[in-house]
Amino acid sequence: MSDKKPVLVSGIKPTGDLHIGNYFGAMRQQVELANSGEYKPFIFVADYHALNTMQDAEEMRRRTRELVMAYIAVGLDSEKVVLFKQSDVPAHTELAWIFDSITTMPYLMRAHAYKDAEAKNKEISVGTFNYPMLMAADILLYDAKIVPVGQDQKQHIEYARDTAEKFNRVFKEEVFTLPEAYIMPDVAVVPGTDGQKMSKSYGNVIPLFASKDELAKRVMSIVTDSAGGRPENVYAIHKLVRSEQELEPIYAEHAGNYKALKEMLAEDLDHYFAPIRAKYEELQADPEIVERVLEAGKREARAVSEAKMAQVRRAIGVA
Ligand code: ADP
Ligand code: TRP
Repeated sequence: MSDKKPVLVSGIKPTGDLHIGNYFGAMRQQVELANSGEYKPFIFVADYHALNTMQDAEEMRRRTRELVMAYIAVGLDSEKVVLFKQSDVPAHTELAWIFDSITTMPYLMRAHAYKDAEAKNKEISVGTFNYPMLMAADILLYDAKIVPVGQDQKQHIEYARDTAEKFNRVFKEEVFTLPEAYIMPDVAVVPGTDGQKMSKSYGNVIPLFASKDELAKRVMSIVTDSAGGRPENVYAIHKLVRSEQELEPIYAEHAGNYKALKEMLAEDLDHYFAPIRAKYEELQADPEIVERVLEAGKREARAVSEAKMAQVRRAIGVA
């Protein structure tokens, strides 16, 4: 066992049906990197982060299960990866409190997520406001070196870096490692069926586990208003599942024939995701698998995070 590998940490909230934007923007890279053998990977379900917006016990349980199965279905190797639930590891919320104590309100008020919520006149929970501190704890507890996420999470990783630096400076000890975001530039923002960023909040998604028919329906609804013969919104999604080299002659040949191009995209998406769907169905037939994986993950994540907390408690003088 080599403990010297750089640590990878990433989390995902169990807050909605997964879509192909989540897959290409986050999950695929997380899984490739996590399985690569180059890192010591920790991947977790950010259920306490989800609690800010999802306050229904049944839904929380169901979506947590679904997310764990989804990760395994897209290829996460639970033998190599510590896969766990944030709420199973008390050190996350404990460290978040410590970070809250060394962080100022004006600094947190600069967070994009907070500013967006405020601009929409939403009543913001204290948890939403502190979101970046819990996320900093998620990352820093494991000495993460890289954090694979979508572009929209970049600022949160900067918060984690700043918080690590601040803690080390205030308590005069190099307790925390400075993490870096890992963002794949080509698919940094996956567009939805309306050409905007694909997001469950915009109703423009192609679900990750859509059936063949559902895929075809969503693809047919892609907005096509390009004048030049190439429907850009179709092409942008198509190039995620097929090389541009292959696509260019096809799009040239069918220039202006949006229906044919959409049919090909639906076909290609179905082909690409069929094995993932099959694996998910197989997992659904094994009711114990989620508990088994999470139990093993909990044990290891607790051991690592408790060792870090011992160091933290000494550094701040409560131990
Ligand atoms: P949503 O925008 O649908 O609410 P989340 O905010 O739950 O999605 O995102 C979960 C993860 O998936 C994040 O790492 C995020 O950056 C990534 N992600 C979500 N939508 C996209 C997209 N359209 N393109 C690229 N990555 C995305
Ligand atoms: N905020 C992330 C999202 O919305 C989820 C998340 C929580 C996360 N903690 C994390 C991602 C730590 C990476 C590392 O997608």
